[in-house]
Parts: sequence; structure tokens; C-alpha cells
Amino acid sequence: MSKALRYLSKTRPEAAGNLMGFYKHSVKALDEKTRFLIQIVTKVTVGTERGLRQYAPKALKAGASKEEILDAAMMAFPAAGLNKLLDAIEVLKDLDLLPEIEEDEPQAVSPELGAISQFPLKRMHCLQRPDGDLIVFRTGEKSVEVYSARCPHSKATLCKGTDHGDRVECHVHNWVFDLESGRCLSPSDMGGKRDLVNIPVTVVEGMVRLQG
Ligand code: FES
Repeated sequence: MSKALRYLSKTRPEAAGNLMGFYKHSVKALDEKTRFLIQIVTKVTVGTERGLRQYAPKALKAGASKEEILDAAMMAFPAAGLNKLLDAIEVLKDLDLLPEIEEDEPQAVSPELGAISQFPLKRMHCLQRPDGDLIVFRTGEKSVEVYSARCPHSKATLCKGTDHGDRVECHVHNWVFDLESGRCLSPSDMGGKRDLVNIPVTVVEGMVRLQG
């Protein structure tokens, strides 16, 4: 159950109960896989990344193939339009729920991230790179922390998250991360298992560079 539904079930138990009952009892004839595939169509149409991340893995678990998941997303196109469809494809790709394609030869990517002076002090800075987005957090005149921008929860990009200065809040399920340490602050009971992935860097002559 989502946080929002849990909240409603406490503050408006009757309304939430009826809502849950509706979901539980309204569909009788469709099997689980079909229901989840239809959920994908509706989530793409409405443009909810949170919903797509919730239901697409369930469709796979219920027996849908990656081709069927792609078909479901494509079926939303007439109502959703191109932008929502492309956003959905990005999310499904992130979740590794799309059929494999032959990737182009990977291009050599520079290990240089840029001059340290270009990164604001104690503020989140997103760097979009072909090998994956990074968050750069400058901690001092000559020190930075660099993290993968993929949310450890469900891989959404934290570059779309809310910048709270020294913290970032994921836009999908609202997990919060401290950018000084990379620790997951909320939910607080993860015991370090859901911290940001730290990327080792060096700062030489004012340039931030990936190690290795
Ligand atoms: S993807 Fe769920 S909190 Fe980020």
C-alpha cells in the first residue's frame, strides 16, 4: 500500500476502505497479468511515474513478457501523446523491463567532471553524462562528494528530485538523502542499505576527476 493510501486509511478509514474494496471487487473476469498490463496503459496515459514504477514490475511478476509490457505502454500513445510515452519508456528502461536492443558501441567518456570552482558550495549539482547522471556536492574549497544520481529505491533519477540544499528528496516516493554523507535519512530504518552510491573522485589542480 502506498504512503498516501496508508495515510488516508487512518484519517478517512471509511472512504479508503470503500476505495480499496472497489479495486478488490470491481474486476472479476480479467486475470492478474491482464489487469497489471492495463494498469500500465492507464499509468502511461495519466503520466504517473510513481504508478508505472509500482505496476510494471508487478506485470512482469504476474507473467507478462517484456514485449507485452512494451506493447501496453505503446497502447497508451493515442491518449497519452508522445512526451508521456517517451517518459514512460525511460522509466521502463531504467527498471530493465523492456526487450533488449543491440546497444551502440560505448563512446569513450572523459573522466573529467569539471573545475571544482564551477560547483556551488553545499548545493546539489546534477551532471548529465552518457555513462549515467551524477550528483556533485561540493563540501569545501577543495573537496567534493560525487554520487550516482539513481535513487537506490527504484532507480528514478534524483536530478528530478527536490533540492533542499544539503539534502535531496526523490520525486517518486519521497525518500530523502543527505548529500554530505550519502545517507538515506527517510525512511530512517534502512540501516545504511539504501544510501547513495558514492563515486570516488580526486581533485587535482582544481579539476574534479573520476578515479580509476
Ligand atoms: S524511486 Fe522510490 S524513492 Fe526514489
